[in-house]
Amino acid sequence: MATRPASLTQQQIRLQSKSQSPMASSLSTAASSRLLCSTTAAAAAAAKLSFSSASSLSFSLSSSSSLKCLRFSPLISQRRSSVNRGYSTVATTKCAASDPDQLKSAREDIRELLKSTFCHPILVRLGWHDAGTYDKNIEEWPRRGGANASLRFEVELKHAANAGLVNALKLIQPIKDKYSGVTYADLFQLASATAIEEAGGPKIPMKYGRVDVSGPEQCPEEGRLPAAGPPSPAEHLRNVFYRMGLNDKEIVALSGAHTVGRSRPERSGWGKPETKYTKDGPGAPGGQSWTVQWLKFDNSYFKDIKERRDEDLLVLPTDAVLFEDPSFKVYAEKYAEDQEAFFKDYAEAHAKLSNLGAKFDPPEGIVLDDGAAPEKFVAAKYSSGKSELSEAMKQKIRAEYEAVGGSPDTPLRSNYFLNIMIVVAVLALLTSLFGN
Ligand code: HEM
Repeated sequence: MATRPASLTQQQIRLQSKSQSPMASSLSTAASSRLLCSTTAAAAAAAKLSFSSASSLSFSLSSSSSLKCLRFSPLISQRRSSVNRGYSTVATTKCAASDPDQLKSAREDIRELLKSTFCHPILVRLGWHDAGTYDKNIEEWPRRGGANASLRFEVELKHAANAGLVNALKLIQPIKDKYSGVTYADLFQLASATAIEEAGGPKIPMKYGRVDVSGPEQCPEEGRLPAAGPPSPAEHLRNVFYRMGLNDKEIVALSGAHTVGRSRPERSGWGKPETKYTKDGPGAPGGQSWTVQWLKFDNSYFKDIKERRDEDLLVLPTDAVLFEDPSFKVYAEKYAEDQEAFFKDYAEAHAKLSNLGAKFDPPEGIVLDDGAAPEKFVAAKYSSGKSELSEAMKQKIRAEYEAVGGSPDTPLRSNYFLNIMIVVAVLALLTSLFGN
């Protein structure tokens, strides 16, 4: 089990703990790395720090980007909130944690990154491991854990369960460098959801605006994520996922994320060093996958762990139990049969997971995709194609709508009081007619 990425030097580690920057130690393998302004140190100075070499540290006061950094810095929200002991203040709604346009551009960059590196699985794991530390029994943010980017700090990256995730951070750091108006916490979840969608999975109803924690002292303690081979896998999964506020259906649906990716013995200790499906990549070769096409998001994970016919495909004890535990089995069987049902439940569960423990600024979050909200029913939109009404009939319908003060293009406003009066009048008339 890796305890510390081999690329870290002692000096880099010292620099990180002093500056509270996540990346200075964890990500700089070569001559340069940058400390980003979404952390405490940078927000205080509106400065961009850059390491020109492993031994020298130079400050350069940057102009517009620094101002943007300050505007989007989580520190700003925290300072304001400390006055009111809450985060839904008028001030915080004006200063969103992330900028919608930058989020959209970052998403395009993530798509390009996926095309060139095939890193879909590790980005999904990154988002999950940041969010999955959430404890619903703790109210206080960020002590409750969850999607707050605490995973960018070395102290948490060093947790055994996170072995290898430093590589995911290395991959997305250049995107973070480019978009100071996107928080790490949003970027992790954006990368994960985009990876699922680009691998052929469902569209995930995401929202953004997650505030970042500012220092390693805000990381959760080790041991909140699930283990792959506990003595009682079903009980263990329930302990861990119920603590996050998730249920049996969500446990099974989310486990289906293993339809993509591989396990590597040198990271988690699980899986074969390589198989016929992984020896040539794509991406870094090796490891053992759960499915044959391990870059395609579909329901083959459930089919494969049910059949267990291929020695080269991985089944962890926590995967196997999905077909052994009576309650989990209901969902696992359903998802093996019905990919659409799996996609629907997965998308909902993934969105829920991505929000766990997060503090949103603005509190309602930011939705990126237009038209995501359900449409209002408008009668006229449903009259099209060959069976379209004739012009004469349309005129007639329009006239009838307009006679009662409405229009076929907009929903009719109903006057309940008038309706009740009409019913009462009709009843009175009938009573007087038949009562005599
Ligand atoms: C149910 C409990 C879970 C356990 C015990 C578990 C365990 C593991 C293990 C041991 C690995 C191999 C890591 C490595 O060696 O690199 C792994 C990989 C992975 N996990 Fe899970 N996991 C669980 C749930 C989840 C969930 C909920 C998700 C996402 C929603 C997820 C997504 C992934 C992905 C995508 C990979 C592949 C990473 C790669 O190829 O680099 N896992 N998991």
